[in-house]
Amino acid sequence: MKVLVTGGTNGMGKGVAKILAGSDNQIHEIIILCRSKELGEATVKELEVTTKNKNISIVLCDLTKLSDVRNVIKEIHSQHTFLDGLFINAGLGYAAKRVETEDGMDPHFQVNYLSQFMLTLNLLDLLEKSEHGGRVIFNVTEGGEIFWDDMQLKKKWNYEKGIRQAMVAKRMFYARLHNLYGKINEPKLSFFGFQIPKTVWTNQITIIPFMMKTMAKIMKFFGTFISIEECGIIMSPLFTEKQEESLKKSGKFITWRKSKFIELEEDKAVFDKEMQDKLWKISLDLCKDEKTAQIAEKL
Ligand SMILES: NC(=O)c1ccc[n+]([C@@H]2O[C@H](COP(=O)([O-])OP(=O)(O)OC[C@H]3O[C@@H](n4cnc5c(N)ncnc54)[C@H](OP(=O)(O)O)[C@@H]3O)[C@@H](O)[C@H]2O)c1
Repeated sequence: MKVLVTGGTNGMGKGVAKILAGSDNQIHEIIILCRSKELGEATVKELEVTTKNKNISIVLCDLTKLSDVRNVIKEIHSQHTFLDGLFINAGLGYAAKRVETEDGMDPHFQVNYLSQFMLTLNLLDLLEKSEHGGRVIFNVTEGGEIFWDDMQLKKKWNYEKGIRQAMVAKRMFYARLHNLYGKINEPKLSFFGFQIPKTVWTNQITIIPFMMKTMAKIMKFFGTFISIEECGIIMSPLFTEKQEESLKKSGKFITWRKSKFIELEEDKAVFDKEMQDKLWKISLDLCKDEKTAQIAEKL
């Protein structure tokens, strides 16, 4: 499988990239989308050594910039004729204050959702060329709400609101993609969300304030966290399972419990067609990109 992982330089993305790269006799190809060339190259070197897989590469993109997203879409198309999997994972976590992106957006909204909305739409053509059944897996958690009157959180900001809004936006996005593809006879692609059942010890721990870090260390002592590798072991089968299995999960919000993947109950608002349409339209307007609008129009 050829899998593109957004945010594969740290945390859950790195865990999935590492386990996938090392599994099945190193047969899988991994492309890591990252914002730092140095960190990206260091990650490739590290994964090559630990997994013995030489088929790992990076593409550069800072998801706070729509111009970067446009460039990386071109770069991926120039280097690849197909993709089998896409892990929509990169995300900002803790932030001390709201810093607006150059596109005038809340960074959590843009990095965790909008830029990856645009990326996903523009990579559907490559996923459709997969011979194994293209799949897009979204790293999500339950809950959250869309702040329709203040989506960029200009009036009332806190980082948790930003994270949770992006989570529900991602869930509405894959639910809609699933519906759109469901209209096609014998759909080839699957789109679903996965919630990790335990908190993962990621780079987030290094950036949170002292008090939160102390709490995290205490919780780690009591076994609250899992490692990025354990996260990768749980999640990697989702990228390699057979197309029929992946299609059965499409449109669903799933997690891992008692050694199997199970479906979670989803908020009604996520399936609300009117709300989905509204978010879709706002997202396309914010992308300000003709090609993305054309792709969306054809779906
Ligand atoms: N940790 C958990 O238990 C947990 C649970 C559920 C969901 N999540 C979600 O999982 C996702 C990953 O979080 P994590 O905990 O693994 O955090 P992490 O260790 O901080 O990893 C985040 C990844 O996203 C990348 N990223 C951040 N901003 C970016 C940007 N502007 N452009 C490109 N890449 C960017 C980071 O790149 P750098 O390496 O350059 O920083 C890093 O690779 C997030 O969406 C988070 O909300 C986490």
